Amino acid sequence: MDHINICAKGEVIPEYCYWDDIKLIHEALPEIDADDIDMSATVLGKKLNFPFIVTAITGGFPGAKKINANIAEACAELGIGMGVGSQRAAIEKIDKNSYSVIKKYDVPLIVGNIGAPQLVDQKKKKAFTDEMINEAIELIGADVMAVHLNFLQEAVQPEGDTNAVGCFDAIRRIARKFPIIVKETGAGISPRTAKKLSAVGIKAIDVAGMGGTSFAAVEMYRAMEKGDVVKGCVGNTFFDWGIPAPVSLISLKTNIPVIASGGIWNGLQAASAIALGACCAGGANLVLEAAMESAEKVKQRLTIVREELRAAMMLTGSKNVAELANAQYVILGRTKEWTGQL
Ligand SMILES: Cc1cc2nc3c(=O)[nH]c(=O)nc-3n(C[C@H](O)[C@H](O)[C@H](O)COP(=O)(O)O)c2cc1C
Repeated sequence: MDHINICAKGEVIPEYCYWDDIKLIHEALPEIDADDIDMSATVLGKKLNFPFIVTAITGGFPGAKKINANIAEACAELGIGMGVGSQRAAIEKIDKNSYSVIKKYDVPLIVGNIGAPQLVDQKKKKAFTDEMINEAIELIGADVMAVHLNFLQEAVQPEGDTNAVGCFDAIRRIARKFPIIVKETGAGISPRTAKKLSAVGIKAIDVAGMGGTSFAAVEMYRAMEKGDVVKGCVGNTFFDWGIPAPVSLISLKTNIPVIASGGIWNGLQAASAIALGACCAGGANLVLEAAMESAEKVKQRLTIVREELRAAMMLTGSKNVAELANAQYVILGRTKEWTGQL
């Protein structure tokens, strides 16, 4: 609940927008009728009407039920993917309904969520078992389970789970039993980490790079609120820690699908992500305010994204998503400075 409230108030996004450094090249004679553009894409074996996933946000407290229901209704109507927030609260039997509510809607791609820190023993908590993971998958009818990597957050969080040893082995182990994707939570994935992960049979990587929601910032506000000056200062220093989302995406040389997220606010940025090699774009914060209001508002927000994506496809002369993946672009600004150095 803290995360929702803090993110809804704003001030958790770094100033510099890396996605806007990607400039798709305009084709003045596209020879395509907008209505004939095929925006559909197959992502993780599921057909989406356009390549977008609303990534993990919430679950586990009563107010989360409405938020997840609003997102699920909109995603079902628009035919795109959706992830729930960390299912830890369901596994620990605090609240299940705020997750399972999404089963009421026909969402074409449902992504479950657990944290990598919960896959190993922490100071006061035991690692989740495979049975618990299976329960979480069944609770929402997940097509894939996302394991989130959030050690930036844990490092700043006053009550953070900071034991990281064994997480990779745990991911390798569960990837043999369940369909797993691995996602960051706003700090990006390096080529080195992607290479390790690509070898263990996971289905996709979501880079969730820096430039959007900063969990260092979120936890900074929480720490300050609790009077924890030390953690608050650590959070402030690490506000824009991480690999910018487009840089992370460009740098990954992997043969598994890559989902691009972290700071995506519009369909033009989503189009850039596809041109840079992503199979799909995603975002969380962009729908948060709408999701607190109504399914209709979420639908409107995501319809804008879809229509911006359509315009970008038309103006780059891309009849379908495969052609958009080959669209020409240039890279400017700080993103260009980063590129080629990882
Ligand atoms: C309020 C809020 C709660 C989140 N909770 C989770 C979570 O439980 N699990 C997770 O994997 N990611 C979580 N995220 C991270 C998002 O899925 C996403 O990776 C990150 O916010 C970057 O995307 P954005 O810049 O579009 O927000 C959360 C994001 C927000 C805004």
